[in-house]
Amino acid sequence: MKREKFSSRLGILLAMAGSAVGLGNMWRFPYMVGVNGGGAFILLYIIFVIVLCLPIFFSEFILGRRSQANAFGAFRKLAPGTAWPLVGILAIATPMIILSYYSVVGGWSLKFLANALSFSFTKEGADLGSMFGNFAGSTWGPCIAHTLFLATTAGIVLGGVQKGIERFSKVMMPLLFLLVIAMGIRTLTLPKAGEGLVWLFKPDFSKVGISVCAAALGQAFYSLSLGYGIMLTYSSYVDKKENIATSAVKITGMDLLFSLLASCAIMPAVFVFGLEPNAGAGLVFNTLPHIFATMPLGGLVAIIFFLALLVAALTSSVSLCEVGVAFLVEEKHLKRSTATIIVFAFCWIVGIFCALNGKVFDIFDYVSSNILMILGSLFMVIFVGWRMKRTDVFDEFTNGGTLAANKRIFGFVWFVIKWLAPIAVLFIFISNFIG
Ligand code: PHE
Repeated sequence: MKREKFSSRLGILLAMAGSAVGLGNMWRFPYMVGVNGGGAFILLYIIFVIVLCLPIFFSEFILGRRSQANAFGAFRKLAPGTAWPLVGILAIATPMIILSYYSVVGGWSLKFLANALSFSFTKEGADLGSMFGNFAGSTWGPCIAHTLFLATTAGIVLGGVQKGIERFSKVMMPLLFLLVIAMGIRTLTLPKAGEGLVWLFKPDFSKVGISVCAAALGQAFYSLSLGYGIMLTYSSYVDKKENIATSAVKITGMDLLFSLLASCAIMPAVFVFGLEPNAGAGLVFNTLPHIFATMPLGGLVAIIFFLALLVAALTSSVSLCEVGVAFLVEEKHLKRSTATIIVFAFCWIVGIFCALNGKVFDIFDYVSSNILMILGSLFMVIFVGWRMKRTDVFDEFTNGGTLAANKRIFGFVWFVIKWLAPIAVLFIFISNFIG
């Protein structure tokens, strides 16, 4: 990300939002809600996002803007001669693992865009129920789609056409937003949609165990791209005059809204069409075609939707890829093109295993979000709370004491960063292991 040029201050914030909003909102959140029992998961998720993730977001922001460096460099600059830069290794490895299987899901979206373009969802007698299963279970299709998606990501990173995708996502993100609202309205006006809504928003705490808590926390980090270098590095480009707190709140709010809207559009449809809410990773792809098939102008909406989804996925995958490339360029002094090829090759091979084997896919998904991202976030928040000086954190959070509102909440934020967040995250992490 060091090499990227952002055209404006707004561009950086958009890039952060672009990294956050992606398949995690549209694909992973609804399926996590489904697997983890509905309403209670959503409630936990919202609480974690506001109470824990927001302060952790502040910490990443503070680390990045204070150090003016990437994940690796940040720790080296702020804690020279210690073992802290090792956290940087974690911050590089995790995105590579995520990108490998993210690209498989990106490939599924690509295939569904192709289906939409041939109007397969609205064809007479289309077998919507097995469309996804047949595709994902086949051998060549998912591998080719994964390759195409990853190559597009690498191509964008290589070309460094930040301006291109910046401009593209400025149009596509609002479009995606409007489409999800339109689909939500369609879903909610279907007969029996109420059942789905009750399931979504009525918390049933009897299903909540520690593993559901860990899943909600992991999803929150995943969706916000928190826990390793991405937000940290992006924030090193954020202007010193920018208000860290309001920027983080805006991005978090937008991300949350996307996830909630997506599940309003998808979950009730699961009930209407007699599908299983806990169907797992294929959930979204199994439900969406049904919605398009019953919607006025569904064929057209499907095309725009999958196009927008693809753009959202790309703005996230580019941020993942860039972490590895920036590391190889800055620390190993490789050429940008060589670095991109290495990252591509690594993620391509690992991704092929994920594309061919659902079990490998699930393990990667679980390990990266429930273990690696949680550890990454934990280290960062501990670093800010315990290693950095309170006065420095204050200075960064309040722009040298000039932001009155930030000054007022600093005491509380500091308490969360120093005590609450590390203890809560550690507690969830450890108890999830002990079972
Ligand atoms: N936050 C992205 C999404 O919701 C995924 C992602 C995770 C991107 C981690 C970057 C880092 O799709």
